[in-house]
Amino acid sequence: MKMKFQLIALTLASVVVAQSAQIGAPQQGSSIAAGSNFTVMIEKSNSLTSSQDVAIVIGLAPCGDAALACPDTRSKLGEILYQGSFNPQYATPPGALPPHQNFSLQIPASFAPGQATLGVAHFSLIGAVMSPSLETFNTTLVITNVSSGTSGTSGNTRRSMRILGNRA
Ligand SMILES: *[C@@H]1O[C@H](CO)[C@@H](O)[C@H](O)[C@H]1NC(C)=O
Ligand SMILES: *[C@@H]1O[C@H](CO)[C@@H](O)[C@H](O)[C@H]1NC(C)=O
Ligand SMILES: *[C@@H]1O[C@H](CO)[C@@H](O)[C@H](O)[C@H]1NC(C)=O
Ligand SMILES: *[C@@H]1O[C@H](CO)[C@@H](O)[C@H](O)[C@H]1NC(C)=O
Repeated sequence: MKMKFQLIALTLASVVVAQSAQIGAPQQGSSIAAGSNFTVMIEKSNSLTSSQDVAIVIGLAPCGDAALACPDTRSKLGEILYQGSFNPQYATPPGALPPHQNFSLQIPASFAPGQATLGVAHFSLIGAVMSPSLETFNTTLVITNVSSGTSGTSGNTRRSMRILGNRA
């Protein structure tokens, strides 16, 4: 019985330090043309610990020539594509997705082609004591030249342009 309790306590502790949100889309290594719209899906993992989402910032930073040394999201977000509230919700009908929010964002037309880091900073308040928590996570994209983007991509991105708001 005591051991079981310790296990639960341990699990709770690790939940607090574990990453509580992640990038559901776009996939690592996706190619996106500069100037085009794309959807970033931020998923929130269900956890035993209650938490309150305060804000999220999504940035895009070019990796430059040294593709092996993409910028560290903790120190550099690059061009800010979104900053504001984060309000993850289940899809309707719920389906398999965890609570999430889709952000329709635009890669600046002047953004340098090549590898870039899509970095996210997520600020939340954890537990009953409202412990402030800032986590960062990232994925790598390939930005293609604006002129090489085919006209077909705009139709693709438009489909998922809805941004979730508060549901009444
Ligand atoms: C968010 O985007 C994903 C992938 O396009 C989609 O499956 C999901 O239904 C969208 N969620 C909402 C609430 O629109
Ligand atoms: C960026 O993502 C990689 C792979 O998930 C991870 O190893 C790395 O720690 C992340 N860096 C930051 C600053 O979040
Ligand atoms: C991107 O396109 C512009 C003109 O449309 C061209 O000048 C430039 O060299 C191209 N860059 C790459 C990396 O292909
Ligand atoms: C991209 O989104 C912006 C606004 O966010 C809109 O004005 C523009 O028409 C969109 N472009 C495409 C190709 O969907």
